[in-house]
Amino acid sequence: MTASKKVALITGITGQDGSYLSELLLEKDYTVHGIVRRTSNLFRSRIEHLRRDESIYGRRLFLHYGDLADNATLGRIIADVQPTELYHLAGQSHVGLSFEIPESTCEEAGMATLRLLEIIRSQTQPVRFYHASTSEIFGNASEVPQTEATPMRPTSPYGCAKTFATQLGQVYRESYGLFVCNGILYNHESPRRGENFVTRKIARAAARIARNLETELLLGNIESQRDWGRAQDYVHAMWLMLQYHTADDYVVATGELHSVRDFVEAAFAIVELPWQKYVKHDPAFDRPTEPGRLVGCSDKIRKILGWKPRGTFSELVREMVEMELAAIDSRETPHELLP
Ligand code: NAP
Ligand code: GDD
Repeated sequence: MTASKKVALITGITGQDGSYLSELLLEKDYTVHGIVRRTSNLFRSRIEHLRRDESIYGRRLFLHYGDLADNATLGRIIADVQPTELYHLAGQSHVGLSFEIPESTCEEAGMATLRLLEIIRSQTQPVRFYHASTSEIFGNASEVPQTEATPMRPTSPYGCAKTFATQLGQVYRESYGLFVCNGILYNHESPRRGENFVTRKIARAAARIARNLETELLLGNIESQRDWGRAQDYVHAMWLMLQYHTADDYVVATGELHSVRDFVEAAFAIVELPWQKYVKHDPAFDRPTEPGRLVGCSDKIRKILGWKPRGTFSELVREMVEMELAAIDSRETPHELLP
């Protein structure tokens, strides 16, 4: 079935990170398998360009139906595909929403990771496993910036589930010698970001207001601060982790903090509009709790794996807003415009 020796399986291939990771691995001559959920719509916007490419789809890229709740199917796919590397990215990833749907969030972000770890433990061939951990495990962080040694103090159901999964990854690595890496990734964005995450929401609204398609932008807490990087750089970090001779955990971050307000100001400056006229506070977008100052120290991955983030905060905002404008002007979705 497989042409090249390196075989990757990606859960969450249709998500922001899954789509960029697929492109990276295909460039590196991997055979890529992805798990997709059954939906009523066959159009999977972020990977549609790959699915339509006859030189790739069905030759080096394969999609399999599966759900994180369906253990038997996950086991069968892994047994059939025999991946050398498994990138586990799937799950409900919205922190605010995790307060509304805590049980399914914890099932997907927590228990599903345990199921996958158990499946790879039972494989006869070794599988290198990447777990999509997050800065949300630090939550009410006891130090700034955070490192791999910072205690985990999550502040949301999502953060709790990711903490559980991160610690399980460590336990399976230490107890059974499995090759398991936790990538402790801080926020990373792109024009492919889901529309209900704050950066995409702002970029999209700034563009739509500039083109007279909308009149206001409703936001929660604009004083919140995050360490925002570029998704394309962060999937490269995932790949680097699985190429090293030993498995470990790594913080992946820019080390720079910006507020939601900074993002708003930069986005509206690009379309030359006064943001104060359009941005309104809507308490519906406030969260019951917010984490502390989440900003990462990525010295370890920079030193050991030679990773570093590229570009600046302003360039990221510009890329996202300009892609939204181009999408409106050409009536395409931003995903379809991407190279
Ligand atoms: P995303 O865009 O929300 O993608 C999530 C993916 O998971 C989608 O492909 C989705 O499929 C799939 N999925 C959700 N529930 C599933 C289920 N029950 N069964 C099978 N597939 C399911 O997330 P992302 O931004 O790419 O992030 C990837 C991972 O990294 C997530 O685990 C996230 O929590 C974590 N993370 C993200 C960041 C960040 O800043 N982006 C930072 C740290 C950690 P559908 O397309 O069908 O919905
Ligand atoms: N989504 C959203 N919508 N967030 C808003 C809004 C709004 O209207 N208004 C203000 N915010 C604030 C949130 O309260 C939060 O403090 C900040 O903007 C960022 O929110 P999100 O973009 O939803 O990202 P997140 O930091 O909660 O979670 C993302 O990053 C994590 C890594 O730190 C997700 O990708 C998680 O999956 C990931 O683990």
